[in-house]
Amino acid sequence: MKPPHLPLALALVVAVVIAVAFLIVNFKVVTSKTSIFCGTTPLVDKNVIPIQLHAVLHYATTRDIPQQSPAEIRVTFDVLFSLYPCNFLVFGLGHDSLMWASFNPNGFTMFLEEDPHWVRTVLTKAPNIRVHPVAYKTHLYDAKNLLAHYKVEPNCLPPRLHLQGNSKCRNTPHTNNSKCMNRLILSDLPNEVYNKEWDVIMIDGPKGYLPDLPGRMAAIYTAAVMARTRTRPGVTHVILHDINRKVERVYAQRFLCRKYLVKAVGRLWHFVIPPATKDQIFKPNTFFC
Ligand SMILES: C[S@@+](CC[C@H](N)C(=O)[O-])C[C@H]1O[C@@H](n2cnc3c(N)ncnc32)[C@H](O)[C@@H]1O
Repeated sequence: MKPPHLPLALALVVAVVIAVAFLIVNFKVVTSKTSIFCGTTPLVDKNVIPIQLHAVLHYATTRDIPQQSPAEIRVTFDVLFSLYPCNFLVFGLGHDSLMWASFNPNGFTMFLEEDPHWVRTVLTKAPNIRVHPVAYKTHLYDAKNLLAHYKVEPNCLPPRLHLQGNSKCRNTPHTNNSKCMNRLILSDLPNEVYNKEWDVIMIDGPKGYLPDLPGRMAAIYTAAVMARTRTRPGVTHVILHDINRKVERVYAQRFLCRKYLVKAVGRLWHFVIPPATKDQIFKPNTFFC
């Protein structure tokens, strides 16, 4: 017998994982809230198709499968399964987006994507996911310089550091000087992004495989600031893909911090980051790590 086609096999694995998650979630609902007998209290509004059913149907009938390996996908699945419903922010839209949203039942999942054309393409297949556009001001070729100039602008460091509307940090005083750290900050995202505290942040975008592309520097920096300025109890899980690339590795070590790395699987790192203490806020050198 011929071995099964690999992408189809992966699609099948994803569909089965989602189906199992859906069954478990509904088992929880059934056992905790209502009778399991047919014809009694209705469990769900039948006019609303749960996102998990959309996901099973989608992945069972498509050849467009997630790029992460099954073992890498499992890391985020386990985190979300332990936390759902939670606030889940994803940098980058892909063939995996519907899967991520369906792993966070009744939670709040939001995607940030820079390429408007790609947003339209993904939304035709997954119309019920929440996506916001994001404009990056960085280029991969500047990654080293951005890091070297990291501490020159007081508004990019605590105690003055904040994300929303931080134009002093974002606007470079020398407009022709592209080598400026302050473009790392994502200060003009929609309110919704800043008004939430994110329990899980996945960084699998923007593109960062050619010098002219934006690279993941701003996503990593912004995720680190979100995690360290968290005010709600608890920690922030940050999951970073493509750590086989130098920029991802170097920025992760600088901002997400080695001591917060709890798992490495394939090309994926998982960090669990506590909020910064008062001490760390007043000693900028210790703010991130
Ligand atoms: C590395 S991809 C993430 C892929 C995703 N993890 C998946 O499994 O599909 C990151 C970025 O690449 C771009 N991208 C991914 N797939 C694309 C495609 N098929 N066409 C155009 N852009 C794509 C998007 O801008 C996205 O934010």
